[in-house]
Amino acid sequence: MGDQRTVLLGVTGGIAAYKSAELVRALQADGHAVQAVLTKAATKFITPLTIASLTGNKVITDLFDDSSPDETLHSAIAHIDVAQRADVLLVAPATADMLAKFALGLADDFLSTAHLAFRGPLVLAPAMNTNMWEHPATRENLAALRTRGARIVEPGVGELACGTVGSGRLAELDDIVDAVRSALNSEGDLRDECVLVTAGPTREALDPVRYISNRSSGRMGFALANEAARRGARVILVAGPVTQPTPPGCERIDVESAAEMHRAVLQHLGEASFAVMAAAVADYRPEQQAASKLKKRDGLPKLSLEETPDILQSAAAHKGGRVLVGFAAETDDLEANGRRKLQSKGCDLMVANPVGGATGFDSELNQGMLLAADGSTQRLAPMSKAEMAGRILDEAIRLRKRMAA
Ligand SMILES: Cc1cc2nc3c(=O)[nH]c(=O)nc-3n(C[C@H](O)[C@H](O)[C@H](O)COP(=O)(O)O)c2cc1C
Repeated sequence: MGDQRTVLLGVTGGIAAYKSAELVRALQADGHAVQAVLTKAATKFITPLTIASLTGNKVITDLFDDSSPDETLHSAIAHIDVAQRADVLLVAPATADMLAKFALGLADDFLSTAHLAFRGPLVLAPAMNTNMWEHPATRENLAALRTRGARIVEPGVGELACGTVGSGRLAELDDIVDAVRSALNSEGDLRDECVLVTAGPTREALDPVRYISNRSSGRMGFALANEAARRGARVILVAGPVTQPTPPGCERIDVESAAEMHRAVLQHLGEASFAVMAAAVADYRPEQQAASKLKKRDGLPKLSLEETPDILQSAAAHKGGRVLVGFAAETDDLEANGRRKLQSKGCDLMVANPVGGATGFDSELNQGMLLAADGSTQRLAPMSKAEMAGRILDEAIRLRKRMAA
């Protein structure tokens, strides 16, 4: 098959490793070739012979085995060959141990070394005992991997091999295959595009030390910037005051106030084919900004507010052929309020997300609705902001193709 892609399948040492034989079959049925790597611990749960018989390829188990699985290469550095030849790296099941190694960038076995040598999309399907899954160390490792763009196929809830019932059970094989397909399909689909992303809150100064702001952490915007860059776009990230690290390859412009963000957006909008306005821009600012710190002894200051520049509306006024994506954080009537904002602001896509609950501002997760100007509506169940970023960009790309048609 000419366009057959290769899945580098890492199998690690959990009970669910026995499911990897079925997984190989399912990946093949979806049109992929599979090259498997088993950790030493994985070989205790399933034999390399079983997997080799199914994949038709030699299974790699040892970093220091001096033969490449591809006999034509005769390479002593198989982890580099294998990483270069794969289109996606899938680890299923992924142990708590391997998640920790990936998060830290360790490279003390074949799989973790190939992970560092690999540049393509990473899909992880963790499986473990509930306490291991919920341990703060595992949560932090997953958060770090998500920030770098890894796709996590969340484990399900059910009976576990240890006899307990809880979360940590390997996701359904169909869901893992879907995640691999989606990771492969999105590879490079923003090459030659420039994506302008705004992220974070703004701060509106009262005096040199005090300001009005909001709870935005910038995570959603940074996840969008990261995902757009991973898909090959040039990314200009206009960031309010946040503590997020700059995603690899993004051009970051730091701003503080709505007025500064407005200026930066208008300055760079002309370069962008997509403008994704994920920042939580303050709607109001103090009319007067005191030059020196307001003193308590002078009594309560009279606060008079004025509107800040409407960045989304200004971007819409200069929209041209680009796709404009806005965000609506709503506490109630998500769809109606989101649609109203979509129309009044003149966007192509509105991401309406509920705030005030467990997801949204300052949370690892997000949920909501994608409301497109062509009438399409997608409901998004709670998911990581990295996954949500992928869904938003998929929809923005669909709208751009529609505009170009
Ligand atoms: C019977 C048994 C079952 C295990 N199941 C799991 C599991 O489901 N998930 C997990 O993260 N670790 C599990 N472990 C622990 C891992 O095997 C152990 O952390 C090992 O070092 C993982 O190595 P690897 O990440 O190189 O494959 C299990 C261990 C044993 C002995």
